[in-house]
Amino acid sequence: MAWENLQGNSLPRHIGIIMDGNGRWAKKRGLPRSAGHKQGAKAFREISAYCQEIGIAYLTVYAFSTENWSRPQSEVDAIMDLLRDYLAELEKHSGQEEGVLRFIGDKTQLAPDLQEKIRQVEQRTAGRSGITVNIALNYGGRSEIVAAMRKAAALAAAGELLPEAIDEALVDTLLYTGGQPPVDLIIRPSGEQRLSNFLLWQGAYAELVFMDVLWPDFTSRTLDEAIREYQRRSRRFGGI
Ligand code: FPP
Repeated sequence: MAWENLQGNSLPRHIGIIMDGNGRWAKKRGLPRSAGHKQGAKAFREISAYCQEIGIAYLTVYAFSTENWSRPQSEVDAIMDLLRDYLAELEKHSGQEEGVLRFIGDKTQLAPDLQEKIRQVEQRTAGRSGITVNIALNYGGRSEIVAAMRKAAALAAAGELLPEAIDEALVDTLLYTGGQPPVDLIIRPSGEQRLSNFLLWQGAYAELVFMDVLWPDFTSRTLDEAIREYQRRSRRFGGI
């Protein structure tokens, strides 16, 4: 298999993916945008299973940003329904294959049924071995940092935290991804070259790989290509 070629070099421990290009994929085919998201959800399933297979420890995908609420209601509903379908599917089989599933973002603005299903899946999969998959939903990197600051301020106001005890390690624990390693590789398909508020803190030293393929066409071979590109980079973390 192609991925065996990847094993000799160090694999990224944590991969982030901005699943972009669903709308363009659908438009090219004369289909509604929701069809692009449906195909995008399929690509997500393939890629998360593949990451588990090759031994990636953490995968974070950007499914819905804090700014995506401004899309037409029908499109927002279509994306939320795809997430509902995915959660229902996971409920049917209770195997270990998906590893740990977590949702990162402000969940309080989601529909109550979705919040409940998310709570259940997070509880059911916690403590599993294998990959941790974070689905970023109603997520924004800046609002994540603001939320962390609020938590720190609340602790300080309660007399449980001294301002001088606030350091990078502490901030890290207060993020939605608290306890997880920083992201090593951020992949953005669809030709756009920006971060769009994704993993701003965790990606401080991430290698960025931009690819021309649209997300619904992204396969395990495309991921191999991105990992090979990552393995060619020399990561210096500010050193020489
Ligand atoms: C960006 O492409 C994509 C989104 C805003 C939605 C991503 C959602 C999914 C792939 C489905 C999530 C489901 C699961 C199960 C994780 P775009 O719509 O901005 O594309 P465009 O730039 O071509 O218009």
